[in-house]
Order: sequence, then C-alpha cells, then structure tokens
Amino acid sequence: MQIINTENYAEMSKEAARLVAATLRLEPEAVLGLATGSTPQGLYAELVRMYREEGLDFSEATTFNLDEYVGIGPEHEQSYRYYMDTNLFNHINIDKDNTFVPLGLTEDIEGECEIYDELMDMVGGTDIQILGIGENGHIGFNEPGSVFVASTHVTDLTESTIEANSRLFAKKEDVPRRAITMGMRGIMSANMIIILASGEKKAQAVRDMVLGPVTPECPASLLQLHPQVLLIADDEALSGIEF
Ligand code: GLP
Repeated sequence: MQIINTENYAEMSKEAARLVAATLRLEPEAVLGLATGSTPQGLYAELVRMYREEGLDFSEATTFNLDEYVGIGPEHEQSYRYYMDTNLFNHINIDKDNTFVPLGLTEDIEGECEIYDELMDMVGGTDIQILGIGENGHIGFNEPGSVFVASTHVTDLTESTIEANSRLFAKKEDVPRRAITMGMRGIMSANMIIILASGEKKAQAVRDMVLGPVTPECPASLLQLHPQVLLIADDEALSGIEF
C-alpha cells in the first residue's frame, strides 16, 4: 500500500481528484467506483470544478457506488443516490443511465444484489475505486465480522456505524439498520483503489488497516493484499502510524 500524506482535507481531496481526472483523460470510458460519506465530498467538489473550469469530460464514464441504505428511496435526502446526484452527478456531464447505485427500496433485495454483481461483471469491474473508511475499519458497508463477504449483500449495520452516521439524520432512530453493499470481490477487482481518510477519528482504523493483520475484524485490512492501493490521508488520520 502506498501512502500519500497530505497536510489537510483540502489537499487530500485535490490529490484524489487529480488521479480520478488522469484516469478519465487517459480512458474516457473509465468505470469509476464511488463512495459516499463526508470524506469524498471535497473530491467531488473538485471534480465538479474541473468539469466547469477545465472541461473534464464524464460523458463516456460509468460509475458504480459502493452501497445504499435499505428501506429508503432515491428521493430521501440521506439516501446515497440522493447524495451522489446532489454532490456530483447533477453538476457534471455524466449520463445518469450509466450511474449505478444499489436500490435500497425494492421488494427483491436479494435479486438486486445479484443484478448489481452481474452489471459490474459485464463492464469488467472498476478501473479506479474510491473508498472511505469507517471508524471501525469498514469499507462500503462491509462491517467487521468473522468472514469477508465476497458478493454484494445485505448487511446489518453495527452500533458504531449507526452512531457515526446518526449525525446526518434528525435522530438516531431514523438511521436505517440495514444496507446493501458491494462485497469484497467487487472492491478488490478494481484496477486501482484510492482510500481516503481524514481526521483523528480515523487514526485507529487507518493504523489497523495498514499495520494490523489481515482480518475480517478490520475489513479494510484486506486491501493489504491488493497490488495497487493508494491511501491518501491527512496528518490526523495518519497520527497512529510512525514513518
Ligand atoms: C459510511 C459509508 C462508507 C464510508 C464510511 C465513512 O457509513 N458506508 O462508504 O466510507 O461510512 O464515512 P465518512 O466519510 O462520513 O466518515
């Protein structure tokens, strides 16, 4: 795993945007794996700026998001589809038909998981996968557990994740208890993975991911086995690691 240590959040975001832009310029039909959460918001703002000011072209790109809450629809302000539309897709020239976010509100949630993996297989996986990291070491919504789950699946959110994400909901009880998430196979099949981390709250998870054993108790630790992972993190997120 390569590490880029940035001074702060803004630099982290710019560094990640530079790499996504380079991928798109080299391959306009690139398949981008995208994440939600607070961490990549600066990256998306920078990509929007590059589209407006530098003509970065998304018209041929395809995107796959990591996850979605179960039980809320795309018009719900906390749904990840809504997040992607408002943070990125509505502001760039991407064809929304080529943007995939799992459907959280569907009668056939298991079928949705299968379709999602089939769609990803059809395009040959992602060229570049953006990830954040949960305070408990989760990636996407692959929560700590006893096994790594390979395929897209429905998962019960841990108390730690519900607590962390409750800041975005009116009250903790409103946070969905389940989510649909890309599994480890989908994530690991990316040609390149960029994982972003900012702030002291992520320091322990970052340390476990980089220096700990590869274990499903810290899902992000599996990234140690991927040949092309770049961790872009600020000083605070890297404070648990000595260079
Ligand atoms: C969320 C998402 C993850 C995200 C992580 C960290 O629950 N499912 O994809 O990376 O938790 O979120 P944040 O960037 O807001 O700290």
